[in-house]
Amino acid sequence: MTTTRPGSDSGAAPCIAIVGATGAVGKEFLTILDERKFPIGHLRLMASSRSVGKKMTFRGREYVVEDLEKADPSGIDIALFSAGASTSRAHAARFAAAGAMIVDNSSAFRMDPEVPLVVPEVNPEAVQDAPKRIIANPNCSTIIALVPLWPLHRKARLRRLIVSTYQAVSGAGARAIDELEKQTKDVLEGRPARKEIFSHQIAFNLFSHNSKIGADGYNEEETKMTKETYKIFGDTSIGISATCVRVPTFRSHAESITAEFASPLSPDDARAILSHAEGVRVVDDREKNYFPMPIETAGQDLVYVGRIRKDTSGPNSLTFFISGDQLRKGAATNAVQIAELLLKTTDMETRSKTGKPGNPAMAGRV
Ligand code: A2P
Repeated sequence: MTTTRPGSDSGAAPCIAIVGATGAVGKEFLTILDERKFPIGHLRLMASSRSVGKKMTFRGREYVVEDLEKADPSGIDIALFSAGASTSRAHAARFAAAGAMIVDNSSAFRMDPEVPLVVPEVNPEAVQDAPKRIIANPNCSTIIALVPLWPLHRKARLRRLIVSTYQAVSGAGARAIDELEKQTKDVLEGRPARKEIFSHQIAFNLFSHNSKIGADGYNEEETKMTKETYKIFGDTSIGISATCVRVPTFRSHAESITAEFASPLSPDDARAILSHAEGVRVVDDREKNYFPMPIETAGQDLVYVGRIRKDTSGPNSLTFFISGDQLRKGAATNAVQIAELLLKTTDMETRSKTGKPGNPAMAGRV
């Protein structure tokens, strides 16, 4: 079936659009919407003109990808955007003006004071206040770090954070996945590695994150981790320094985190807090030298935390190692959780009976 006709066609279930449907995160959206049994009355898939006519399957039905440039957003309730910041800047307002709520996975609006930046385990209430009808999904490394840091911050108040990341290539999109695969094959077979997406060879190598370096010496990814943490935690007093590195894994980021707190927090206390924290699994077996690994966190939504120990270099300080699937919890799952919050605070049943919205953020549309 093609879905070029806009608007919901199935009772109260919403019309969902995926912008960037053919990309690494876009495809993940479909998997996660299905896994989480997200109610969908009507689905529209959009990408660049290069993908027009391409067919994709969801819940056993075939959908034809639309050209975003030409797509009429009328009737869309929620649009999940993951097609890069410039695409979001060009199209999100147009979709919002037509009545859609946007959950944007790009960096385009994250620092806009009128756009909530949401990790549902941390600040779910922020979705209520979205005057531009846009809610931003944070940077993948930020989400993965903040899920376990939040319950520790609530207990002992974070003062200083030092993070080093080990970031999988899929964070740079579907073509970066191909690049690692091709380069690995080429190098193993004695051919030179061809570089198209990354400016350095990624197979059998690692390098400083492929984003621009600012005047302060931090690259954009590192700066995002600092600024986004401030906005999500609502606390700009935390000292943060990140070093972001791209490594030759396909999927799931890992991070080494050293966190200094205002109050004492022992490794055992942290382990106890984290073992009950939403979205976290403690994997911390010293005897077996078994700790979080990308190969085990890929394909699921929990952030694994291990190597929890005292940072012996300073007071009230812990150091630990985490890993989480950045295409899922670091992108698509987090965005779908935000969409679920929108549905929860919007009484779709009420809408169908009375035409009135339940969620102020959805007002005007539903
Ligand atoms: P397309 O596949 O047609 O290029 P990734 O992050 O994996 O590289 O995916 C990016 C996603 O964003 C793809 O679905 C891609 O579509 C889409 N995209 C990129 N540029 C545009 C654009 N200018 N307009 C619409 N979609 C775009």
